Amino acid sequence: MVRTIGILTAGGDSPGLNAAIRAVGKAAQRAYGMEVLGFKDGFLGLMQNRYEHLDSDDLSGILTRGGTVLGTSRIKVNRVDLGDGRDVDGRQAMREVVEQHELEAVVCLGGDGTAKNALKLADVGIPILTLPKTIDNDVAETDVTFGFDTAMYIATEAVDRLHSTAHSHHRIMVVETMGHSVGWLALGAGLAGGADVILIPEIPYDVEAVASSIAARRAAGSTFSIVAVAEGAISKEDAAIRDSMQAKIGSADDPVKNSIKRKMREFEGARAGGTVQLASTLEALTGLESRITILGHVQRGGTPTPADRLLATRLGTACADFIADGTHGVLVAAKGQTTEAVPLKKVAGRTKSVPLDHPWLDTARHLGIALGD
Ligand code: F6P
Repeated sequence: MVRTIGILTAGGDSPGLNAAIRAVGKAAQRAYGMEVLGFKDGFLGLMQNRYEHLDSDDLSGILTRGGTVLGTSRIKVNRVDLGDGRDVDGRQAMREVVEQHELEAVVCLGGDGTAKNALKLADVGIPILTLPKTIDNDVAETDVTFGFDTAMYIATEAVDRLHSTAHSHHRIMVVETMGHSVGWLALGAGLAGGADVILIPEIPYDVEAVASSIAARRAAGSTFSIVAVAEGAISKEDAAIRDSMQAKIGSADDPVKNSIKRKMREFEGARAGGTVQLASTLEALTGLESRITILGHVQRGGTPTPADRLLATRLGTACADFIADGTHGVLVAAKGQTTEAVPLKKVAGRTKSVPLDHPWLDTARHLGIALGD
């Protein structure tokens, strides 16, 4: 009997996805004689039974390509938006597709949202495994995610390049990285690129403290400053408002909860231009001209770094071994130089933030980099 597996990519794309598809597929074919079906556009393609057979030719020549050859989407498997105002629970349809193809496993390459979806599918009996991809590096229970190294490289290059123009014009350069609600990218690129200030969501900032650190640099003879700020960075005042709303959600009953959640969304929407506001406040407080660079999706594009290719490749080949052993319901996690199958229950719904005692923070403080606190 032919052994068949499915593979899909879900959530935001990330460099290294194609390297992982290739690794899972080649290892499954070569070591175990399995057939590989690639489902299109993430869980949506699984629900709609849209797939292609991935033979060895399809898996060749994609190692270095950015994006995902399979396409991706952001959906919730239990609430699929039909585009006409209606939602459906897609899990039954997905299970039928898995049964129709007699899939031994479905491999999902994704981040924290994908782990949540995967757990919901495991709960309805689908044999599922995930691999940790995201530029945010925020998946719990794995040392690192693929995509992060490439994004950090791109953001570091931006910080490098901003140095010379900041120097020429004696300006404050504020550069915003992605990272959703965590600060790994801003911290990593800020350190590697030699930023003077690094602001991350884990450490709410005091804008006056940031301005004072820039003024102190100026007084000491440095005529420019580079501020690396994570998109999720938050001021101390806003963090206090957010925390009090979250506390109210925890104790409220349903109708009140929904209205607080709505207010919270409005609050987050209003914070969306936070980096622009930050730059103009710093300009006002220091009297130094400031400019903003928002790196955005450029951090997700292009060819993966060697470190991301290696990570995606070793996790992908290990995944094929786990499938062959009959292991599912797990994240294939990187632990040092080894891989581990971690139950999805331990991963889904958790976010790996930068711990406040992380060595990178300690290193930044030793260098005199201001962290806004
Ligand atoms: O999770 C990856 C990520 O790039 C985050 O850093 C960012 O907040 C988000 O996705 C952007 O999502 P989208 O591609 O939907 O704009």
